Amino acid sequence: MNIENIKSQFPIFSQKINGKPLVYLDSSNSSQKPISVINRLNDFYKNEFSNIGRSIHSLAVNATNKFEETRMSVKNFINAKSIDEIIFTKNATESMNLVATTFGQQNIVKGDEILVTELEHHSNYVPWHFLRERKGAIIKFAPINEDGDIITDELKKLITSKTKIVAVTHLSNVTGTIVPIKEIVEIAHKKNVPVLVDGCQAIPHIKVDVTDLNCDFYAFSGHKVYGPTGVGVLYAKKKWLEKLPPYIGGGAMISEVKKGKIVYASPPEKYESGTMSTAEVIAFKESIKFMESIGMDNLIKHEDKIKNYALEKLRKINSVKIIGNPKNKAGVIAFTIQGIHPHDIATILDDDGVAIRAGHHCCQILHEKLNLTATARASIGVYNNKDDIDMLCKAIDNCKKIFD
Ligand SMILES: Cc1ncc(COP(=O)(O)O)c(C=O)c1O
Repeated sequence: MNIENIKSQFPIFSQKINGKPLVYLDSSNSSQKPISVINRLNDFYKNEFSNIGRSIHSLAVNATNKFEETRMSVKNFINAKSIDEIIFTKNATESMNLVATTFGQQNIVKGDEILVTELEHHSNYVPWHFLRERKGAIIKFAPINEDGDIITDELKKLITSKTKIVAVTHLSNVTGTIVPIKEIVEIAHKKNVPVLVDGCQAIPHIKVDVTDLNCDFYAFSGHKVYGPTGVGVLYAKKKWLEKLPPYIGGGAMISEVKKGKIVYASPPEKYESGTMSTAEVIAFKESIKFMESIGMDNLIKHEDKIKNYALEKLRKINSVKIIGNPKNKAGVIAFTIQGIHPHDIATILDDDGVAIRAGHHCCQILHEKLNLTATARASIGVYNNKDDIDMLCKAIDNCKKIFD
């Protein structure tokens, strides 16, 4: 596969936006979809559709098998030990709510501490805040330094005998910081504290091996890895899935229901209640195939090249300030332009066909820390090339001219 020509696999790039070729730099928000994923969704609905796990007719058995094939692909992709450790949800947000709710119900009492970091997306903070509201838990924040790196020595000090869980992102969706998860897991485990990792941004950009990381929980969304919406993944060590209570009650998550008693199904079914995103999960296997066909090493090399090119060019533009300078940075580039509101930047860039995101990116704690209310963000996907970065810079120049 020629990585420079990868765009040709994405039909969306054949259209123009505002009369200009689409330059898509919003993959951290959600990535575009290759034709193989789109075709699989279409094929499944056209020729194979059935619900899973219930009926025993041919279509249902085929759909169930295909659904389970995706579970196997995910297991292999993140190197989990067992398919029973892979739970499908509707997105990463739901995966993290699942953990916060069930873990909180079982393990958190008034005065217990939950340790998050200043980098967290709201979906790895708000579910823990519920436990502050509902159970009187205390939330602590591991600080970042001015480069946007978590200060691990400070994190270590914040783990006390009251700490019940550490919840931390693997890759910041603002600064692009790649967080040393393995080190954090070692620190927390030494004090017998489990770790949940928000892997939403890491999964599309770096090699993730949950067995090597040794984390207890790892959450991500399919739509950020070139997959359909409606697919979330929660990896959890089997011991947790067996021990924690179920999350959503209903069909498919039980093995026996009597008037006086209910026996829950074993994981993963215990956590997959009701009709799942059947077609989307089945098509998600094609997203993993797509990633594997490129190879994570090639993907990382390519994205690094584009990121470095982007940083070099953006740094040369007067009045552009890149937010954060972490030790290890992925292609997630938040920036400001002096005197221009990020929403104005995004609107004006859109006129040139350049799609970026502006706002607080669901990271208000981080923006407050940085004394900012909003930033503009260009985020790189595997389909981006140097021409896209040239277009971004040209559009920024045009934007600046309007405000000069
Ligand atoms: C770091 C991070 N965590 C969690 C999420 C939430 O993902 P989703 O909206 O797919 O649940 C996002 C989405 O932007 C994210 O960037």
